[in-house]
Amino acid sequence: MPHPSPSPAPRHEDAAVRDVLTAGVAEQHAALRAWGLPPVRLLVLYNPCAFRCFFCASAGTSDRAADDRTPWAQIAGHLSPALPEEQGRLIVAGNEPLLHPDFDRLMDLAADRAFHHIELMTSGTPLSDPARRTRWIQRGLRAVAVPLYAAVADEHDAVVGAPAWDGLVAALDAAHAEGVRVEVHSLALRRTANALLPLARMVQARWGTTLAIAPLRDKEGQFDWAREALPLDALADRLAAWPTDVGVRLVGFPFCVAPEAPRGAADTIGLYFRTQRRAFAPLCAACTARPRCPGVVEAQLRQRGDAGLSPFRAPSPGTSPGSTGG
Ligand SMILES: C[S@@+](CC[C@H](N)C(=O)[O-])C[C@H]1O[C@@H](n2cnc3c(N)ncnc32)[C@H](O)[C@@H]1O
Repeated sequence: MPHPSPSPAPRHEDAAVRDVLTAGVAEQHAALRAWGLPPVRLLVLYNPCAFRCFFCASAGTSDRAADDRTPWAQIAGHLSPALPEEQGRLIVAGNEPLLHPDFDRLMDLAADRAFHHIELMTSGTPLSDPARRTRWIQRGLRAVAVPLYAAVADEHDAVVGAPAWDGLVAALDAAHAEGVRVEVHSLALRRTANALLPLARMVQARWGTTLAIAPLRDKEGQFDWAREALPLDALADRLAAWPTDVGVRLVGFPFCVAPEAPRGAADTIGLYFRTQRRAFAPLCAACTARPRCPGVVEAQLRQRGDAGLSPFRAPSPGTSPGSTGG
């Protein structure tokens, strides 16, 4: 599947990963397998988003022209019948899939094509329409991956630039009660650093899942990355002080930051954050975890160098196995 419509290539996104999201089915499966992920169908929709998240809103997302969207022919072309190895799994993501005018039609076609386990990445507001939600669940919606930036409305709404939290949380409660898995992610931002623990508690208590925290990626200098991104050592200090009964997962952070915290996220969230372009500091050259480590977002290296990184070292002869640093 060719790229749906021209949009400025974001400088801090990994172009190879981004291309996979909009590639043909065989190419997607090959990439997913190479990343150790199951061969699901990926459908990424381009269309304007109604939110104005300060780190995202741009010409290609919120300011996109209404008619500059993934056309129906392209959606239908990508939804060929589900292959046995896909086990009915379809991931739908994009700028804001629920605002794409063909979304309902897409769900009908996906059901006809035997996709019965559909995961959706969305900022979620239209989930509050009970009739549409029920229809999507009947068609195979099984999981939603949504961002939340705080456990209270004002703080979240300030980040997304719209009154969203109250309706979103009520919609997620309703979807959860109807059997939809609710996966939540947030970003390591200075402005919401105090919100992460209450948010993780809320996610666990309300929806029985584990909050994933991801790094902030620079975006063509449209915001001040150094002012907004929570420093790596500040994140690690916070997580070290968390009560042990509150779960959290890190996605897209180097392994030496809070190494005791579990890594990973729902496939939909993990896939999205693979698009962040990352690199390594010179300090990382001898790190024993480097072959498996995702590295750090580029802005970190440019603006903070190796601050907060502490590579794992191979034990020198005579040291105990537990003293590998990090
Ligand atoms: C591009 S949005 C699309 C789906 C949906 N509209 C949403 O808000 O989740 C997907 C995710 O990208 C993340 N995102 C956007 N810009 C980012 C940036 N500059 N750095 C890190 N994450 C970003 C947000 O957390 C968001 O949840």
